[in-house]
Amino acid sequence: MSANSPKKFDSADAKRIDKQYAAPAMVEQRRRTLEALRLQPGESILDIGCGPGYLTLELARQATHNGRVIGIDTSQPMLEVATARCEEFGNTSFHLADATSLPFEDASLDAVAVVQVYLFVPDLTRAFAELARVLKPGGRAVIVDTDWDSLVWHSSDAARMDHHIALWKKRYVDATVARRFPGLIGRAGLTIEHADAIPIVELSPDEATYSGSQLPEVTKYLAGKGGIDPAQAQAWETDLRALATQGDYFFALNRFVFVARKPR
Ligand SMILES: C[S@@+](CC[C@H](N)C(=O)[O-])C[C@H]1O[C@@H](n2cnc3c(N)ncnc32)[C@H](O)[C@@H]1O
Repeated sequence: MSANSPKKFDSADAKRIDKQYAAPAMVEQRRRTLEALRLQPGESILDIGCGPGYLTLELARQATHNGRVIGIDTSQPMLEVATARCEEFGNTSFHLADATSLPFEDASLDAVAVVQVYLFVPDLTRAFAELARVLKPGGRAVIVDTDWDSLVWHSSDAARMDHHIALWKKRYVDATVARRFPGLIGRAGLTIEHADAIPIVELSPDEATYSGSQLPEVTKYLAGKGGIDPAQAQAWETDLRALATQGDYFFALNRFVFVARKPR
């Protein structure tokens, strides 16, 4: 397991993710997450690491008949974006809190969503224990995360791509966290009801795509790491954009979705 330190999401990250998460690949990820959650009228749901609040907003729309939606995050700038996004919904609330110390009573929630968060969390045993603790008996969690080892990103220099992606993975506490979910879910006393992949496949690095909006972020991160200077990082991005002009761009990445239930 990696010992990378957890990333802090500042206001620049909040702005970037707010834009990036409007991409069709992220819209599809939310559709699949909502489908897996099957929220019922009157239910209470917690969105752990709610980020800019796109999913929270969809949940607020579905949480009819006194249902309530709570978003938590460790980033104040993210919470500000999420609060603004959901301001018309009186059934939502937001709190600054950590996935490993949830400020809720035992067995108090019908459902929990955790999307693209656990790859930033060092103590997952504690995070999963907290997840299980706050769920009501019979309640369910939908957990979605990426495994960066599923990445296929075409480049004219495969060795350089491998080197750059190995460094990029250090941005996460565990860039391949999804493969650990079966064990973590089971050891937290939850039962896996369903597991599936949510693939992203993109043939263009346009700004409106997930990979296109991620490209400048990867370039910025790589500059100065592992012997890569800013010009070399930029050359890597330029190569991918040049491939695109020839119709040779290909990006694919898998996210994995798990539905876990607390026994009655
Ligand atoms: C990539 S964003 C995902 C946002 C949102 N779940 C979504 O899919 O749209 C990751 C979010 O997790 C939050 N986060 C990271 N570590 C956390 C922790 N230990 N507890 C709660 N939130 C955390 C970050 O601040 C950030 O807002």
